[in-house]
Amino acid sequence: MTDFEEVFSRAPTVVADAPGRVNLIGEHTDYNGGYVLPMAIPQRTRVELAEREDDTVRLCSENLQREHPTYELGREHRAKAWYDYVQGVTQALREAGYTLHGFDARIDSRVPIGRGLSSSAALEVAMLRALRQAFHLELDDVALALLAQRSENNLVGAPVGIMDPLASSLADEHTAVFIDTRTLQIERIALPRDVQIAIIDSGVSHANVGGGYALRRQECAMAAKLLGVPQLRDAYALDKIEQLPEPLHKRARHVVTENARVLAAASAMRANDPVALGGLFIESHVSMRDDFEVSVPEVDAIVERALRDPAVYGARLTGGGFGGAVVVLARAGEARKAAERIAHDCKGASVVLP
Ligand code: GLA
Repeated sequence: MTDFEEVFSRAPTVVADAPGRVNLIGEHTDYNGGYVLPMAIPQRTRVELAEREDDTVRLCSENLQREHPTYELGREHRAKAWYDYVQGVTQALREAGYTLHGFDARIDSRVPIGRGLSSSAALEVAMLRALRQAFHLELDDVALALLAQRSENNLVGAPVGIMDPLASSLADEHTAVFIDTRTLQIERIALPRDVQIAIIDSGVSHANVGGGYALRRQECAMAAKLLGVPQLRDAYALDKIEQLPEPLHKRARHVVTENARVLAAASAMRANDPVALGGLFIESHVSMRDDFEVSVPEVDAIVERALRDPAVYGARLTGGGFGGAVVVLARAGEARKAAERIAHDCKGASVVLP
């Protein structure tokens, strides 16, 4: 493994990192002004960085790419490569009026990539944390997450919501964060006693830059317009939703019922009720599969296999979908064995956690 000194012939002055996330429930609700309930995962992205006197940015990352990309601040441009996430961050910072110089940085990404576990937000948040420290930027953790989102929306071109950067910036591995994405109010809620989270990767890659995610966003915006509400967060009348044209009524029904499920899940967690929480996971998956249509057969097979396991309360697709990973709510102490049994029976599947 090459280290920072080998590549840049000096030592880093700043080291920062940020975690990936797993969303427990509340999928495709964030860009509709709704609720989400993510927590951090142990896998993190780490950035080592040293400031430069000029405006050049030099990067290296052994596990993302062998070459060392270089660009000039002020000349960021989409390269359709991993370092667009870094370019997006420096562009967003400058556009927000922050003063930066160039820097050398080494990035070590341990968050599984393209698995719906937020490798991109982990990279953006880790990079923003390193730059905040190196250049003494006045930036609180919520403002930092908003800049991460903006960088991905603009330079990378992925129309993602605020959930992932906020989770990466604010969450930890032991407590979920309930986020109202409209007000950005958050509440930390512990997992029920006696439960443990497992994550199983389907082996099918997902990408938020692809057309599916953007199309769902457009469908939601169109449904809200036809319902005469600012966002689907504001739609409650299920009878009016049923009158929307196909497939908009299904999309809207997912968002409206999913928001209600997040509120119910938060209550189940506060009440220490794993059975109720597991039931909500199961309903959420069905809704994503049938109404929002963002699941794939490999993911459905993992969920179905998980639900036959005696140690499992519930399981569902986590993240944007079109591939990705399954989050499993298992009995504490049994999650590892259950995850191994499930992955063993599903082709292409592998255990990410615990
Ligand atoms: C991706 C996006 C998030 C969110 C989820 C779906 O992870 O980055 O903003 O929309 O999909 O819940």
